Amino acid sequence: MTVPGRIDPAPGGSLEISVVIPCFRERPNIRPMVAALDAALAELRWEAIFVDDNSPDGTAEEIRAVARTDQRVRGLRRIGRRGLASAVIEGILSSSAEMVAVIDGDLQHDETQIPVLLEAVRSGRCDIAVASRHAEGGDAAGLSSAWRHRLSEGGIRMAQAVLPKRSGFPPLRDPMSGFFLCERRFFDQVAPYLSGHGFKILLDLILSAPRGTGEVPRVLELPARFRPRLQGESKLDALVLVQFAAMLLDKFCRGLLPLRFLSFALVGLAGVAVNLLVLDAGLWFGFDFNKSQVIATIAATLADFWLNNTLTYRDRRLRGGGLLIGLPLFLLVCAIGNVAGIGIARALYDSHHGWQPAGAAGAAIAVVWNYAMSSTLIWRA
Ligand code: GDD
Ligand code: MN
Repeated sequence: MTVPGRIDPAPGGSLEISVVIPCFRERPNIRPMVAALDAALAELRWEAIFVDDNSPDGTAEEIRAVARTDQRVRGLRRIGRRGLASAVIEGILSSSAEMVAVIDGDLQHDETQIPVLLEAVRSGRCDIAVASRHAEGGDAAGLSSAWRHRLSEGGIRMAQAVLPKRSGFPPLRDPMSGFFLCERRFFDQVAPYLSGHGFKILLDLILSAPRGTGEVPRVLELPARFRPRLQGESKLDALVLVQFAAMLLDKFCRGLLPLRFLSFALVGLAGVAVNLLVLDAGLWFGFDFNKSQVIATIAATLADFWLNNTLTYRDRRLRGGGLLIGLPLFLLVCAIGNVAGIGIARALYDSHHGWQPAGAAGAAIAVVWNYAMSSTLIWRA
């Protein structure tokens, strides 16, 4: 018997696909999202699992209200936790179908691509099908600003530097995508090795796969558009960047020469000395504190760059045109690392850690980040 308004969960067959949807403060998007899936997946037997981190706007209540009348929909609510990647992992673990898709809950991803991704994995062409903004025919128009575009580009370059290669599969052009599909069997093999930090579950999955399956995964990109957000706002912020950095570092810090790192850290210390000296001189010459500090920071970074170029990366030394690209990139990388370090220090200090451990953790994050990025982006092997 079918109750009016209720949907038979699996008429005449078993579930074909689980759609996992991380959401935080997405109340107005829940119903439109279900309606969009309903239209896009009309040919399939599906379930949707919304994973909410106890959003203050009543997202969980909204999910529950929908789930009461639509049995394809389920909510997973986490209390006292935050994080896109871990939300996705737990959503997948709690789902049931043989195939699993992950999609944002803010309607920025084009859900009509799900059947296309599904076909790519079902046909055995790949282990993970990724809806890509940068594949031929894709489009990233939904990125809200030039700053987001640049951020996204930077992230892609960093990610590409660490992604393993598989012959026959071109380098991933959109490793930051949060919209992809894979088989449960594949996910289950990799799950024990996922780090689960931060925002980039796809990267985590690809980087962890070789430990779970014994080989680099076959990743296929299919073009997709990225729509502008209509309701609510993006949760990407400085902390997300720090987590992204930590995730990448987690994967590739081993294997790099400790001697080189030591040199880099010592050069950093020398930079601090330069900073203090120049600051002192600036004040002595009668500049105000802000102006002196800006000059001192620039002087310290230039000194660091020069010392690293001549000492730390002597064997990869940049000259001529290389300096024109290397120096600005170094300034940018260090600016990000230092901001992240300061953020971490402040967060720790605010959560009642002493100023020494907070400061030390901040400095450590900054120097490790600056080093890792310098080694892979600026003074490449
Ligand atoms: N449960 C949970 N917990 N969900 C979260 C959290 C969290 O801490 N943070 C974000 N989300 C949800 C959002 O509600 C949204 O549905 C989805 O994750 C993506 O977050 P947005 O805040 O909308 O991200 P974006 O639009 O800036 O990022 C997009 O671009 C990235 C590529 O640069 C998304 O497509 C990402 O998936 C993608 O990786
Ligand atoms: Mn979004």
